[in-house]
Amino acid sequence: MAPRRFGDAVVYQVYPRSFQDSDGDGVGDLGGILARLDHLTWLGVDALWLSPIHPSPNADWGYDIADYDGIAADLGTFEDFDRLVEGCRARGLRLLLDLVPSHTSIAHPWFREHPERYCWHDGPAPPNNWRATFGGPAWSRDPVNGRWYLHSYYPEQPDLDWSRPDVVDAMQAVIRRWRERGADGFRIDACTRIAKDPERRDDPPRTTPSPFNWHPEYGALEHVHSKDGPGIGAALAAVRDAAGDAPLVAEATLPNEQLGRYLEHVDACFAFELQAAAWTAPALNHALGRALALEDGLAWVLGNHDVPRLASRVGPERAAAAAVLLLTLPGPVFVYQGDELGLADGPAPAQPLDRAGRDGARTGIPWQAGAAHAGFTTGEPWLPVAEPPTWAGGTAAEQRSDATSHAALHRDLIALRRELSGPATAVGLGPDTVAFARGDTVVAIRPDGGPVAAPEGELLLRTARGDGIVVRRA
Ligand code: GLC
Repeated sequence: MAPRRFGDAVVYQVYPRSFQDSDGDGVGDLGGILARLDHLTWLGVDALWLSPIHPSPNADWGYDIADYDGIAADLGTFEDFDRLVEGCRARGLRLLLDLVPSHTSIAHPWFREHPERYCWHDGPAPPNNWRATFGGPAWSRDPVNGRWYLHSYYPEQPDLDWSRPDVVDAMQAVIRRWRERGADGFRIDACTRIAKDPERRDDPPRTTPSPFNWHPEYGALEHVHSKDGPGIGAALAAVRDAAGDAPLVAEATLPNEQLGRYLEHVDACFAFELQAAAWTAPALNHALGRALALEDGLAWVLGNHDVPRLASRVGPERAAAAAVLLLTLPGPVFVYQGDELGLADGPAPAQPLDRAGRDGARTGIPWQAGAAHAGFTTGEPWLPVAEPPTWAGGTAAEQRSDATSHAALHRDLIALRRELSGPATAVGLGPDTVAFARGDTVVAIRPDGGPVAAPEGELLLRTARGDGIVVRRA
């Protein structure tokens, strides 16, 4: 097993296009992130992870990379990146980048200049029944050469062939260059997709329910051949080799039992079973029980740029209890930008930008009441910035000066978290409650919003509704 380099770190996910615009073009950028680092230090987080910052035609909003070594012009320059690195170092914040190793943009020069680096099939029809994650076949015909190419996501994202040493070498070089430039670690995107069945057999129809909320067409199959193939260990060993000691967290959307091969090489895998669980005590207790049985290696996450915002999913009035659960668990925790404000999904724009329906979770952060677009940009925002009541709890500025705000709850929980130690063990406090102990401290929440029946002891923290508490047992 790899050492667990994240410890109990709190990592704040920045979706760069939507965090803070600094030049009035309506798109958040690196200069904006630098200007807002004080928000992160106020919260007390340890690190930030930036969703991809590289040049991209934005078929998948940055996750279709056309140049791993560049910086997207609308996000900034290398000088901006260097300044951000310096700003993070000065504040003791670690900076994680998003490594997207499984596919490039179809506009990446490799696709034409090095087609051998991708996964092809010759014949009248695709070689198997694999489906793309957002629906439709995972094989498309290249209009230029008439051959079939594999894409686990959109057709604009052809999959790289990680069985080829030149692909491995190229990606290792990318990792080394960004390490040299100041990246402290990486989140590894779509990690399971870097290895598939070399025989490319059909995925069988699904017979057991999946713990994840897949697109129905994709979820109709058991993904036993189209991902998580035998080559995964070698591929991750190569990533680790290039990354050295840098902390690595894998986006591997797999049942917990299947994460062992990943945790041989990376420090943590996101706890997606818990993220996908219904917001009820039985479902959360089940998912948490399974997660805690793993002992370590999970990175806790309830929100990100791919799913509806936490406040929309659980209901804004229940988001406080969700924060209590998330921020008291042992091991690394990831907080998605805006979740600390209780921000709900923004309205869908008249013309959706993301074809998989994720725009609502990606609208700009409301920083300042009374400012144009709530201070996100002085220009026209690339996605409309939501209005209240989407942020009924107030802007970041308002929440930071209100000790009872959702943001203040986050700051208090992050501070309290520093005093917790040891593994979490489940505690039975009744069927409506999710509860666990860490040492002599008990954490309990009621997902239905009702008040927790607190055990005897010193109350360390309580949500306004009483549906989340932290108690030091007498
Ligand atoms: C990951 C990203 C998601 C993206 C996909 C393809 O799941 O989080 O946003 O669409 O990979 O890169």
